[in-house]
Amino acid sequence: MRTHYCAQINESHIGEVVTVSGWVSSRRDHGGVIFIDLRDKDEVVQLVCDPTDNLQAHKKAESVRDQFVLVATGKVRARGEGLENPNLKTGKIEIVADELVIENRSLPMPFDLNDEKVNEEIKLKYRYLELRTQKSYNIFKLRSKVTIAARNSLDAMEFLEVETPILTKSTPEGARDYLVPSRVHGGEFYALPQSPQLFKQLLMVGGFDRYFQIAKCFRDEDLRADRQPEFTQIDVEMSFCEQEDVINVAQKLIYDIFTQCGFEVPTHFDRMTYQEAMEKYGSDKPDMRYDLAMVDVIDIFERCDNEIFSKIAATPKKNRIKALKVPKGDTLFSKRQMKGFEEYVRKFGASGLGYFQMKEDGLKGPLTKFFKEEDLHAIIERCQLEVDDVVFFGAGEKKRVLDYMGRFRIYLAQLMEIIPQDQFAFLWVVDFPMFEVEDGEVKALHHPFTMPKSLDYEDIEDIESIAYDIVLNGVELGGGSIRIHKEDIQEEIFKLLGIGEEAAKEKFGFLLDALKFGAPPHGGFAIGLDRLIMLMSGASSIREVIAFPKTQKAQCLLTQAPSSVDNNQLKELSIRVKKSEK
Ligand code: AMO
Repeated sequence: MRTHYCAQINESHIGEVVTVSGWVSSRRDHGGVIFIDLRDKDEVVQLVCDPTDNLQAHKKAESVRDQFVLVATGKVRARGEGLENPNLKTGKIEIVADELVIENRSLPMPFDLNDEKVNEEIKLKYRYLELRTQKSYNIFKLRSKVTIAARNSLDAMEFLEVETPILTKSTPEGARDYLVPSRVHGGEFYALPQSPQLFKQLLMVGGFDRYFQIAKCFRDEDLRADRQPEFTQIDVEMSFCEQEDVINVAQKLIYDIFTQCGFEVPTHFDRMTYQEAMEKYGSDKPDMRYDLAMVDVIDIFERCDNEIFSKIAATPKKNRIKALKVPKGDTLFSKRQMKGFEEYVRKFGASGLGYFQMKEDGLKGPLTKFFKEEDLHAIIERCQLEVDDVVFFGAGEKKRVLDYMGRFRIYLAQLMEIIPQDQFAFLWVVDFPMFEVEDGEVKALHHPFTMPKSLDYEDIEDIESIAYDIVLNGVELGGGSIRIHKEDIQEEIFKLLGIGEEAAKEKFGFLLDALKFGAPPHGGFAIGLDRLIMLMSGASSIREVIAFPKTQKAQCLLTQAPSSVDNNQLKELSIRVKKSEK
């Protein structure tokens, strides 16, 4: 129903008759002559309907409204002097409509398609209308390019694309499962995969050597701007490899994806240990587009006369005193802002926020009186302070201090607008701890199939694993590990996690069995495709890069899922629903 897409028509077509089809993005009546902007998938062309050229076409154009579907035929001509539009590929030409077919009408738009500030609920209810915008099209064009580039890159590295089951058994990625009831086995459930983790390991036992999949994953967890209950991973696994081999594959993949989509990125990314990332940036996914690193000053504070600080400093394994320097901060922040900073960190459990100002004649601030002159000098040196700098202090229990100072770092960077918006700062974070202990419960930080560096330990939290995350601009883009391929180590890990023999057999017996049949050394990683597209396209939320996303409450406003089902269907599934007490 067209001879050209709008974007294909230019000055070389002047004098030719063309047919274009699409939606009316605007219609203007200029005293008799009607101008219609017709948009197809990715460009607009101007149609001119002049009664002196074609009375019939002009009459049709009078009834046309926004978002009507048109097929228009006419001759291409140059736009008049001074009427060119440099923002359009078709800005130098227009089509004089000779025949106008209204293929379909449209109700008035429920929201202004070009208004970014429209309430998200309305946009999600009519998501197909939002998809009609140039902005959305560009995002999905990029998404398509990225998946094709990923496939090509992995194919060139001899990875095999294999699909793994969606109706399966629970995989332990740390979130709750989405369950699917079985009709045939009443009272029993499949779980939707949180990732293809266990199956990709089984494919390694199956001898495939190199696997990948653009895999749908499902996790019932609290949603945020970069999380969806249903999302996609570029999932990779390989055999007979060490961490270095996996990192090289991931870097090559990322390099290929970015360069094939027209972005410049380095071939190798910096690395930082988990411990360094936490101590310097209070996060295992630091944004490296700006500095604002923390410095340890616990040893200097130990010597001060303030009882609170010296008490905290007395147990340096358990506690931290961290300094965060803001260059020229003394000239940037008002007194009110400084007070606001304290309120900000209190929200995350800080009991206060100390600070010093660096003046011409040395350090000033309410805390200086507790310090000897030489210790004030030590602070200046340790933090490398210059006149007009401000340095903030967080003191207290290690995890809490690192958390609120890390958040404060991001808050300051956003406030000072020092985060470059046109940069990609990649970072490998390596040597993750194997376990974390929360309220006395031992949990796997990645997942329980991660290979520990060693199992000799004094404190279980000191055990390191061969696990790595790839961070982009402060977002966890992906992660992976070398896996346990030996049954005895896997059993030991389950034991440390408090998963008894019976429970392990019940949950992962099939994996433990497979490890007995010559499982090769193997490892891999997964990159969050939605997050990748979000960062590449500069979208502010993951929802913008998913065609039909869910809300923060995991609902699809378009289809109204989840929804109740009729009693017969429930009966077939042997399910009785308890009415919620509202
Ligand atoms: P992990 O759980 O770290 O690892 O997930 C890998 C990447 O998937 C993305 N991701 C998400 N994206 C959107 N919404 C979510 N709810 C969500 N959860 C995770 C992130 C994350 O870095 N099986 C392991 C990988 C491996 O070890 O090979 C896994 O799934 O970008």
